Amino acid sequence: MKFAIHTYGCQMNVRDSEAVEALMVAAGHEPAANEGEAELVIINSCTVRQKAEEKALGKAGNMIAAGKTVGLMGCAVKRMGEDVFRRLPKLDFAVAPRMFGAIPRIVASLKDGGERLFLGDDNTLPAGMDAHPTVRRSGTFAEVQSYVTVLLGCDNRCSYCIVPDVRGHEYSRPAKEIVAEVKCLARRGVKEVCLLGQSVLRYGMRNDAWPGTDVSRAEAFTRLLRELNEIDGLERIRFTSAHPAGCTGELAAVYRDCPKVCRHLHLPVQSGSDRVLREMGRGYTREEYLAAVRRLRELDAEFALTTDVIVGYPGESDEDFEATRSLMDEAGFDNAFIFKYSPRPGTRSAALEDDVSKAEKERRDQVLLADQERRGLERNSRLVGTVREVMLEGPSKRNPERWSGRDGGNRIVVWDSAGDERIGDLRRVRITEAHAQTLIGTLEPSPRLRPTCTSPLTK
Ligand code: 5AD
Ligand code: SF4
Repeated sequence: MKFAIHTYGCQMNVRDSEAVEALMVAAGHEPAANEGEAELVIINSCTVRQKAEEKALGKAGNMIAAGKTVGLMGCAVKRMGEDVFRRLPKLDFAVAPRMFGAIPRIVASLKDGGERLFLGDDNTLPAGMDAHPTVRRSGTFAEVQSYVTVLLGCDNRCSYCIVPDVRGHEYSRPAKEIVAEVKCLARRGVKEVCLLGQSVLRYGMRNDAWPGTDVSRAEAFTRLLRELNEIDGLERIRFTSAHPAGCTGELAAVYRDCPKVCRHLHLPVQSGSDRVLREMGRGYTREEYLAAVRRLRELDAEFALTTDVIVGYPGESDEDFEATRSLMDEAGFDNAFIFKYSPRPGTRSAALEDDVSKAEKERRDQVLLADQERRGLERNSRLVGTVREVMLEGPSKRNPERWSGRDGGNRIVVWDSAGDERIGDLRRVRITEAHAQTLIGTLEPSPRLRPTCTSPLTK
């Protein structure tokens, strides 16, 4: 059956969709060249904000109306339970996040005239769900980059967040399994991995990720990074998302010692007001957050930090909002994602009055976006004249004469093609111009093109 997958939400969903694609291909199905050609459309949904959920459900509705066989997977399924069929009566199947491994079997039963199926999960880990193959699409950056889920679920209980309800308890995959998987990926040409977990620095805290070894729980993640750093062929290691509690001296030591571990951290702050942080149950103060930032920037002034911020949390006053603005300046974020507060059913904050008006949320959103635009430009301008090591991602979408890639800080770098670029190569780019979201530069000649050295004796 020809199928297409549409993915909404975070990298975790992107990773799960890749796994479903690989499982479907292994079961003999064929990815459709475009949506029109697909008989089956699978929609991987997000529920972190109401708007995100609406988008996925809306898309499912459109696909049903277009006469496709439609399956829904991901977080919205878990949140809605079987009510999802009330909302979408003609949906063919719905599968909760940890059950996606069953999709090929469900599709087979549909073909045999089976009934539409709902597969929930009880937030514990069914055997065999954690390790899944991925598809490598040749000729794109996805050929050399891979997401690797290391920590499932989340045991933090932030007041506004539905993720723990829909993604279940924390479970850390065994480290040895992850190391073996990344070695295998590297042998197949993968140059960059991004380790995924909702709060990835808690890796190994809830269950022992290193059974039979002397690695303590507190060291589980940093030891994993050190082991991955030794893998031949692998060039870059990223991980996301992080909580400041995990930004320990030992993590800073890993950044110092391990050249493959990229100096970029996505460290959601959510608010700069101690009062709001306490209400949210984030478990740190403004000062503790800034201390984590200082620790990383002391190591490397160009250490890239990105963040998430929520505006309009219940009771957020002008003063609270200004505290967020000033924290963002002090932290000097390289990029920031701003979200308008959206009450999610069943979360603690949903019981509070959503008392910041829509217009005021919008205003605060715009203010922070404008601040970040200016700040991003300022931070990027410091890099003009320097040379950045960039992993090549491919021709720019807007102008194929140009190529783009990313530096270790995840900054997008663009240059006029020299004609000898290869996806996945690490090259040096001299930065000539800065924008808020991109750097422009010139590619330094490839070392491979240099004339071979004459014998050192003739020097
Ligand atoms: N409303 C608005 N934003 C939210 N986020 C999580 N839950 C909510 C919510 N209820 C944001 C947080 C998180 C990001 C993934 O989404 O900033 O870091
Ligand atoms: Fe949500 Fe907090 Fe878990 Fe992040 S760490 S997913 S904000 S509960």
